[in-house]
Amino acid sequence: MNLSNEQRGLRESATFDRTTIAAIQRAADTGVYDIRGWGAKRKLPHFDDLLFLGASMSRYPLEGYRERCDTDVVLGSRNAKYPLHLDTPVTIAGMSFGALSAGAKEALGRGASEVGTSTTTGDGGMTPEERGQSKNLVYQYLPSRYGMNPDDLRKADAIEIVLGQGAKPGGGGMLLGQKISERVAHMRTLPEGIDQRSACRHPDWTGPDDLAIKINELREITDWEKPIYVKVGATRTYYDVKLAVHSGADVVVVDGMQGGTAATQEVFIEHVGIPTLAAIPQAVQALQELGVHREVQLIVSGGIRNGADVAKAMALGADAVAIGTAALIALGDNDPRYAEEYEKIGSAAGFYDDFQDGRDPAGISTQDPELSARFDPIVGGKRLANFLRVTTMEAQTIARACGKAHLQHLEPEDLVAISIEAAAMARVPLAGTSWIPGAGAVL
Ligand SMILES: Cc1cc2nc3c(=O)[nH]c(=O)nc-3n(C[C@H](O)[C@H](O)[C@H](O)COP(=O)(O)O)c2cc1C
Repeated sequence: MNLSNEQRGLRESATFDRTTIAAIQRAADTGVYDIRGWGAKRKLPHFDDLLFLGASMSRYPLEGYRERCDTDVVLGSRNAKYPLHLDTPVTIAGMSFGALSAGAKEALGRGASEVGTSTTTGDGGMTPEERGQSKNLVYQYLPSRYGMNPDDLRKADAIEIVLGQGAKPGGGGMLLGQKISERVAHMRTLPEGIDQRSACRHPDWTGPDDLAIKINELREITDWEKPIYVKVGATRTYYDVKLAVHSGADVVVVDGMQGGTAATQEVFIEHVGIPTLAAIPQAVQALQELGVHREVQLIVSGGIRNGADVAKAMALGADAVAIGTAALIALGDNDPRYAEEYEKIGSAAGFYDDFQDGRDPAGISTQDPELSARFDPIVGGKRLANFLRVTTMEAQTIARACGKAHLQHLEPEDLVAISIEAAAMARVPLAGTSWIPGAGAVL
């Protein structure tokens, strides 16, 4: 008789579970640490731990078919001559050409433009296809300087200075040799086919005072036209946001530890940074104390998957959100139609996080000419636009139910938490109580 492990009295260890055992065995077999993409996979307090208090007697809901609920947002209004005016607050996060194929970058631009939002370059520079298809393109200025080109700075609609990412705050990027094709190498002025690690800090400033000078230089060379964003990975968010504002940022981007990456050490992804949920109230507090909440806009990213997440981030005080992983899935990544091929590369649809190894059967995170030819940027762009529309409508549905005529009218008072951890991090009461654990003990 075949007995199950439980029937045989075998008990899995919570400390040494099978994933941990496999990780030790892998390290012992290979002698190298594990590198992967995607964000933290461990269970963390997240937006799912929050719920909205829809209207009933004490609040009045809006009627979906007759009453407006606006979704537009202006980003970069503090100093820039031309701030970005977006129709939806769901923007596309920076993902590098190199990590992604040229077709995927083009599709991100197409999808974003169709619904009136922005997309962002990445470590690796601006491709003409991406610029051509993106109505609003944010140009990343990164520690690596890969693909950095002053002419492209001027072609951008906004500039994002990247200090860090939620998946690897304090760490640099990685791009394995198999993805350094001739074109990627040319844009980054790197040798073809050789693994590259990018820097973890900018070479031309050491702190916020230097950064203020750099921001002014960037404004000067772009005629004070473009909003300047500063992106930080979530760690000491309260202080980082204050320093970013001090340095002159028009927009602060805070990326929580659930945020995706193209590649970094697994140990980094799972053990460095703080959850997105914990970062937002810290960022908002910093902006409020400086008297610039809403004047310096806050974009939040890291694990945003649907309209409920968008509405929750905004209720906590974000002006907009950015998505990476969800956008790639919308383009067609992890499609079960490629199930067999995922299996051949030792993965499965829904688990594919080897963005770095360049064998993506969906043709999105690859530079392989045959694989990338499978991806149609027009179809991908339409799929992304559909996803962005649905996400925006979902957020609107929630806002109306809370009686709000604009997504930005959502507020912490609309939320409760269903776990003590989430209540403490998000600084909203535990459902059914008025208890905010730790209130009064915050920064
Ligand atoms: C494939 C991939 C490539 C990325 N490349 C960059 C990059 O070049 N620069 C950067 O600042 N962030 C990069 N990121 C991080 C995103 O900008 C963003 O912070 C993150 O994806 C947000 O979390 P989410 O994926 O859960 O939406 C990348 C993410 C992914 C998934």
